[in-house]
Amino acid sequence: MCGILGYIGNREAYPILIKGLHRLEYRGYDSAGIALINRENSKLNIYKTKGRVSDLEEFTKGKDISGTVGIAHTRWATHGEPNHINAHPHYSQSENLALIHNGIIENYAVLKESLIRKGYVFQSETDTEVLVQLIEYIKTDNNTDISTAIQLALKQVIGAYAIAVVEKENPDLIIAARKSSPLVVGIGQDEFFLASDASPIIEYTNQVIYLNDEEIALIHRNEQLRIINLSNVEKTPQITLLEMSLNELEKGGYPHFMLKEIFEQPRTLRDCMSGRLNTGNGRVVLSGIIDHREKFINARRIIILACGTSWHAGLIGEYLFEEFCRIPVEVEYSSEFRYRRPVIYPDDVVIAVSQSGETADTLAAIELAKQAGAFVYGICNVVGSSIARNTDSGSYTHVGPEIGVASTKAFTAQVAVLTMMALNIAREKKTISEQQYLALLSELSGIPGKIETILQQNRYIEDLSKIFTYAHNFIYLGRGYSYPVAVEGALKLKEISYIHAEGYPAAEMKHGPIALIDNEMPVVVIAINSTTYDKMTSNIQEIKARKGRILAIVNKSDCKVREMADYTIEIPDTEECLSPLLSIVPLQLLSYHIAVKKGRDVDMPRNLAKSVTVE
Ligand code: M6R
Repeated sequence: MCGILGYIGNREAYPILIKGLHRLEYRGYDSAGIALINRENSKLNIYKTKGRVSDLEEFTKGKDISGTVGIAHTRWATHGEPNHINAHPHYSQSENLALIHNGIIENYAVLKESLIRKGYVFQSETDTEVLVQLIEYIKTDNNTDISTAIQLALKQVIGAYAIAVVEKENPDLIIAARKSSPLVVGIGQDEFFLASDASPIIEYTNQVIYLNDEEIALIHRNEQLRIINLSNVEKTPQITLLEMSLNELEKGGYPHFMLKEIFEQPRTLRDCMSGRLNTGNGRVVLSGIIDHREKFINARRIIILACGTSWHAGLIGEYLFEEFCRIPVEVEYSSEFRYRRPVIYPDDVVIAVSQSGETADTLAAIELAKQAGAFVYGICNVVGSSIARNTDSGSYTHVGPEIGVASTKAFTAQVAVLTMMALNIAREKKTISEQQYLALLSELSGIPGKIETILQQNRYIEDLSKIFTYAHNFIYLGRGYSYPVAVEGALKLKEISYIHAEGYPAAEMKHGPIALIDNEMPVVVIAINSTTYDKMTSNIQEIKARKGRILAIVNKSDCKVREMADYTIEIPDTEECLSPLLSIVPLQLLSYHIAVKKGRDVDMPRNLAKSVTVE
């Protein structure tokens, strides 16, 4: 949610910042801006515009973009509509300071009022402008240096921030700080980079430092990086080596990241399971679980915390843990969990699922669980992310950067990790027979190959998608393990095509939603072989009787549903508990093609951002 970026070194900052903004654009894309200090004429120039980074490039044509120090921002609006005035960077009143921000200053109204009383005039409706004005006020009023002013200002701030500040008369310094929003500093040869994540940095250096909450980085040109905290205590920078590769950040010949990421799933699932799932010796090795075996074996209950697609993966986790481990599970929206008074026992195991590892609500929910003494396990994709660092233990999904806003490969890997966890714990608890355990292990290892066969139907699904572009509404139905798939399929469609879609447990239809069915309503049914197959066929009959148009996801071996459905997409047979890993893939492709046909920007759908770092 908003991408922030900075550069200081011997090169021109503009091209590095623009390229980096393109990499961070998935985090927010309603406006963009850049601030550069030109040492020759001692000017601090800010250029910003509504729209995408490409609009900013257009806007800066012919303008003075020179400077070897600069900061840049791509925005997802929280306070104030997306326009050029609310875009970052923001000047302070004297125009001596420029600041970019990712997060929310919750007490901005009180601070703003007090600054207005002191004669400060505001240009924008943002919370961010309050912060830069506050820093300037403190600097002038206390006659102090910029870093002290930032420390004092941040002590007054309630909320979340990752910020970077430059000062006109100080062209050899960028100051950055964070609390609850991510910030990473890259260390190059005589140059430094800072960014919301490592993707804009990897091209220049693999040495990075992830800032911790309430830390401030003093990034001086040609000097050692210094990190202090709000109380001015010096911290030793911990360098991490990045393992990301540049190829992972490119589209690799695909028209969109989303399509690339859907097609990557056979490989990403193999990567996710590699070294963990061993069919040879019948073992599942997840070090995060082995190290905390007793916690899982003795868990009174498992609470899964997540948002969006990760929450849907969590629902599948619930079915898996209850079926195989016989541990009661609750799946909670992080945002609801954190604001009620949930009962949390010290012997609960909390599993936080998050692709980005930065989702603000999930981070806050984790804190609550930790305070109550629960053991917290993280399933994250982004290495070094806040959730990965704030949990007691965990497993990475290892799918590489997911750039399309619609989560695809991260979802299947989250489900794969949850499956491996369930199998591991079930075996330890002896709640699964050795025969079933080994059969599931073997079947799980074959899932990537089966996804490959589904992907071969891409052209067919693309053709099918043409039939449905007319629709204004969709219903997705599933039962058992296919219910979370229905909800996830509906989310995929609505977020990228803007077609209204709802996922329901199929049997719930007759309690209300069936009133919506007519001959214009496409109903996607996940009708694979399962313990509830016959019940599902009855539900399909009920829809047919009301003339709904049925698109069914069926197994290759299916005969019955095929007869009833208007259209079908086949998936290979598998164990019921593993079926979500297959049945979601055609739904991802269907949503993608419908959205493309409707001319939507599938990688950057309106109003959304990849990493939701505000609550
Ligand atoms: O990074 P997280 O997994 O914590 O993100 C959670 C949701 O914001 C995310 O899954 C969102 O729902 C996706 N856009 C869905 O495709």
